[in-house]
Amino acid sequence: MNFKITLLPGDGIGPEVVGEAVRVLETVASKYKHTFDFQERLMGGCSIDKYGSSLTDETLADCVASDAVLLGAVGGPKWDDPKAKDRPERGLLALRKGLGVFANLRPIKVHPALMEWSPLKPEKLQGVDILVIRELTGGLYFGFPKGRDVKDGRERAVDTLEYYDYEIRRIMNLAFELAKGRRKKVTSVDKANVLESSRLWRQIASSIGTENPDIELEHTLVDTAAMKLITGPAWMDVVVTENMFGDILTDEASVLAGSMGMLPSASLGEAGSKSGSEARMGLYEPIHGSAPDIAGKGIANPIGTILSTAMMLRHSFNLESEAAAIEKAVDETIIAGSRTADIGGKLNTRQMAEEIIKRL
Ligand code: IPM
Ligand code: MG
Repeated sequence: MNFKITLLPGDGIGPEVVGEAVRVLETVASKYKHTFDFQERLMGGCSIDKYGSSLTDETLADCVASDAVLLGAVGGPKWDDPKAKDRPERGLLALRKGLGVFANLRPIKVHPALMEWSPLKPEKLQGVDILVIRELTGGLYFGFPKGRDVKDGRERAVDTLEYYDYEIRRIMNLAFELAKGRRKKVTSVDKANVLESSRLWRQIASSIGTENPDIELEHTLVDTAAMKLITGPAWMDVVVTENMFGDILTDEASVLAGSMGMLPSASLGEAGSKSGSEARMGLYEPIHGSAPDIAGKGIANPIGTILSTAMMLRHSFNLESEAAAIEKAVDETIIAGSRTADIGGKLNTRQMAEEIIKRL
């Protein structure tokens, strides 16, 4: 089969990890007789430097026209001026919105061989296998009004937490659908004791729960969820939550796995959002950032990005065996003791990728 993939390596370590992930995809292509056509574009700080915009209309159009998008990371101290009119992060948000990828899947698994790298005791980590589904195109990140003004002689800043019923319904439906192939439990995280948007969230979660009696639904307040992620993470299966809560909880959850460098993500649009099929638009990226402190050294862990390509094969291209082959190769590589610096080893980015590629 033939697929067109847009690469947005971005800033910092982004290009280093995306380069290795592409080599993994090329290996899969030749082994399973697929053709992946790659086109590379600028997004983030590098795009501000070249075009004066973190995401140009042309780049967004090229992403929309491709079968999937693979992103490295954006941002860095060079573009951190709070007064700047554009920021790398704005490009990322515009990309998510422009692609309509409303569901951000962040699976958190703890590899037994890496438990010592987690700050939690190994007995707490036994059996941890969580899928966080973060709403990605609504909530505080996108609600209006938003901005600054002067009111009654005082400077004021406003962000708005807004959700429409259909936005909650579609992410909740996806959460229940994915829970069916897992341990059949959905934890819906909100702040319904305080926020109106959370009360609508909870109401819709409950009604979809009633339609799916085979799935256990539980409502948890976000502050409690933050605590339970540390005290009893094995108790969670699918966790579904609004944009900002999901942003915070997934950084917290990532430390369970020992290193952020290990974790992939997939951001998906509506079923049928790719023309002529049931396929969903998909944006794939590791959950780590641009890591300016190690950028350019070639020592970043490429596993989060490589596992993101496995999610791409599964969710956008429907290539389950190829996806599973990448995950198995990563697993075996970890078991064999291969380690980058973030997990206590000496391999560089290229060497780690080589270890995975040779097991494919
Ligand atoms: C993430 C990041 C982004 C977010 C930033 C870079 C805008 O933290 O993907 O979790 O807040 O969504
Ligand atoms: Mg984040």
